[in-house]
Amino acid sequence: MLKEIFEQPKTIENALRGRIDLDESTPKFGGLNMSISELRSVDRIVIAACGTSWHAGLIGEYLFEEFAHIRTEVDYASEFRYRNPPLDKNPLVLVITQSGETADTLAGLRESRRRGHKVLALCNVVGSTIAREADGGIYLHAGPEIGVASTKAFTSQVAVLTLFALFMGRIRMLSNQRGSQMLRALEGIPAQVQSILSRDLEIKEIALRYAHCEDFFFLGRQYNFPVALEGALKLKEISYIHAEGYPSAEMKHGPIAMIDEKTPTVFVIPSDAVYEKAYSNLEEIKARKGPVIAIATEENTRIRSKADDVIFIPRTLDPLYPLLAVLPLQLLAYHIAVARGCDVDKPRNLAKSVTVE
Ligand code: AGP
Repeated sequence: MLKEIFEQPKTIENALRGRIDLDESTPKFGGLNMSISELRSVDRIVIAACGTSWHAGLIGEYLFEEFAHIRTEVDYASEFRYRNPPLDKNPLVLVITQSGETADTLAGLRESRRRGHKVLALCNVVGSTIAREADGGIYLHAGPEIGVASTKAFTSQVAVLTLFALFMGRIRMLSNQRGSQMLRALEGIPAQVQSILSRDLEIKEIALRYAHCEDFFFLGRQYNFPVALEGALKLKEISYIHAEGYPSAEMKHGPIAMIDEKTPTVFVIPSDAVYEKAYSNLEEIKARKGPVIAIATEENTRIRSKADDVIFIPRTLDPLYPLLAVLPLQLLAYHIAVARGCDVDKPRNLAKSVTVE
């Protein structure tokens, strides 16, 4: 797992390689097997996935709606396969899967194709069942992911979703300038990921201060809400500590009753469009004596006076923060699990690919 966490500058680069056309300010793909007019006529995107891939799909929802103005919904594949969604005339079903063998996701694909809907797969394993049965798709090129807890596949999924959302936008209404701005920022992500990884020792020291805790909250807003969910899942699945992820504003609708000095909150709070709102949510946690580990943008000196610990990440454009903010969460979960003597590569009760219902 640690090896795969540290491969991410390279694997994100691989996900982007050959798929950015700066002259046209647009991504480009082979293998979609859909014409431009078919893609342009898509009026709804339904994403079906499981676990970490479902978290990537949630980020995709924000991306498709912001950059392509396409109504998007995300469903657990296990729910999607038994729902009876009244899909519009031109829906596009997107299945996201590292292994390409997840039974629920495969069933969702087959149910969609049975109804005549186009299905694209974002997949890491070339020639896997889902890759073969989809109408087309985009490979992650992350290389084999052995660790049961998915790390590099997640960031590659988010990178590919960002490219695909920009592509769908640029064949619709997205401006050349906005496309170019996003693509240039995306090209800088691998080096920024590397800079976060170079802070691993500092992150480990923070992790060890909380390794004894039995309950965690993970909070974030907008693009970083799914990142909070992913951080909670990473901690749960390799350290067996109870953790919950929420949109930070949701805490006051009940969950904040759980906050006390023994319950730390990992708060993903980069300097983005909702920073002030998130900051007031963080103050609500502190007012109830909850310890806070903040994941914040460099130069944010104000956060130091409020959070108990801060892990800084480089500044980027709001939609790209998930690609950076997830790194500290992966490392926090890893170091806490190791400190608790857990087998981070083969956690109890889990399989790398869930090929049964
Ligand atoms: C993630 O760390 C887990 N191993 C699990 O949630 C995984 O993401 C899920 O089972 C989906 O797997 P897939 O991406 O191979 O379909």
